[in-house]
Parts: sequence; structure tokens; C-alpha cells
Amino acid sequence: MAWNPQQYLKFAQPRLRPALDLIARIGTTRAQVVYDLGCGTGNITRLLAERWPDARITGVDGSAAMLAQAAQPPSPIQWVLESLASWQPETPADVIFSNAALHWLPQHRTLFPALAAMLAPGGILAVQMPRNFLAPSHTAIHDTVHAGPWRSQLEALITPPPVSEPQVYYSVLQEQAAALDIWETEYLHVLTGKDAVKEWTKGTWLKRFLECLAEPERSAFEAEYAQRVAVAYPPLANGQTLFPFRRLFILMQKR
Ligand SMILES: C[S@@+](CC[C@H](N)C(=O)[O-])C[C@H]1O[C@@H](n2cnc3c(N)ncnc32)[C@H](O)[C@@H]1O
Repeated sequence: MAWNPQQYLKFAQPRLRPALDLIARIGTTRAQVVYDLGCGTGNITRLLAERWPDARITGVDGSAAMLAQAAQPPSPIQWVLESLASWQPETPADVIFSNAALHWLPQHRTLFPALAAMLAPGGILAVQMPRNFLAPSHTAIHDTVHAGPWRSQLEALITPPPVSEPQVYYSVLQEQAAALDIWETEYLHVLTGKDAVKEWTKGTWLKRFLECLAEPERSAFEAEYAQRVAVAYPPLANGQTLFPFRRLFILMQKR
């Protein structure tokens, strides 16, 4: 999928908040080797560098466009263009951090223990992923797929939610864990602008559906989805749109 940093960063502030909440829970861990998996435009990686100024910080991402933005302005952070599906750390990590990225990868029952195995003893795995795939923002995509002439082209993109129940992560991580804290938070994001929820998902989950279509179907699909999602999340009289959004947090310390 081709990521667009400008579209993604339209809602930089509400997207940042869960990452800040996760970083705040990490505690006083000392770290020399820190990885940010799916670092995107690197704004959160820079916060990790502030948190551990003496550590070697590496941001890993599969999108050249996102990393090009991450690399500006220059910093001591290493930016690595690589698929997370094949990524391995050079040395055992003190911190593996990932905000809003691992839901793009399949097979979490094997992925998460594999990431934990890449930690040094006492190391931290800190992950945040959306868990709102059955919310109207996402089901309206499916409804739009089924309602139009694009159905046969797009139906295969409708997949089961990529993020499992919280208990699954507990069960696959607890064997390697000295401490394991898993929780969910539902944020009430307050969005501004026209078609706010459509613009939000256009930066993430909606993208691959749009990318499969040529014009004029692409614009027609986008307009129909915008209509559906505006019914589910109507703008308030002040022009703002409330967008409830559930997210899963996993914080593990390795034995
Ligand atoms: C929603 S953005 C989050 C970016 C950043 N972590 C943040 O919170 O601002 C997801 C990022 O994960 C990256 N990503 C998704 N799947 C990936 C994969 N299989 N390999 C490498 N990067 C991937 C995308 O390129 C994108 O930059």
C-alpha cells in the first residue's frame, strides 16, 4: 500500500495521543538499543530518542515516502527501509516499540512471541494497535463495497479484524514475560474539517480500497463511503466530529 504522509498527518494530534500514553507507561527502563517498528514519519521515534538520549534508536518502515519525511530534519536516528515481516534486530533489543503499525501484519499468534524473543533479558515490548475494526468507520467500507459496481474488485480486501482479543496476546506472551500489562482505551477523538472520519480513514484503512479502483469509480466509491460514514458520525453544530476509537495496548517486560 502506498502511504501518503500528508494525508496521514492531517490528524497528527489525535494520532499522537495513544503513543504518548504508551510511552508514559514504560517506566524507568534503561535502554541502549531501541527500535520503532512501523515508524512512519518518525515523529514518535523522535520522542523515543528524547526519552533515551544515549540509546541507538532505529526506525523501521516499509514506506519510502514515510521514511523520506522521517529523515527531515537530520538526526542521529537510523532510518531503515524494510518489511516488518522479515525484520530482525542486529542485536537483542532493550525496547521494541510499535505504534499503530502491527495490525498491518498477519498471524499475531506467532508474530508477538517472535518479537518478544528478539528482546534482551529485561527488555520491553510496547505496542499500540487500533481495535475498532467492527466500528461504523470500518463496517461502512464493507457496506460500500457490497453496494456498488466495484463489489467483485474489492470484496477480497474485506478480511477478518487483524487484531485479536486482548486475552490472545496475554496467552502467547506470558511464557516469556516477567511483567505483562494489557489494556484498552477508547478515545473520543474530536476531529475538525469536512468529511472528517472519511479523511481519517483515507489516511489508513480506506486507502487500499481506493487504490484498487480507477476513476471514475474511485471518486464514486469515496463519495458513497463519505455519505455513509457521515450518517454514523454526524458533524456537531460547531463543525467538529466526535470519533470514538478503541485501541489495544500491550506492555511486556521480558524475563
Ligand atoms: C498508521 S502508520 C503509523 C506510523 C507511526 N508509527 C505513527 O504512529 O505515527 C503505519 C506505518 O506502518 C508501516 N507498515 C505497515 N505495514 C508494514 C510492513 N509490513 N513492513 C514495514 N512497515 C509497515 C507503514 O508504512 C506506515 O508507515
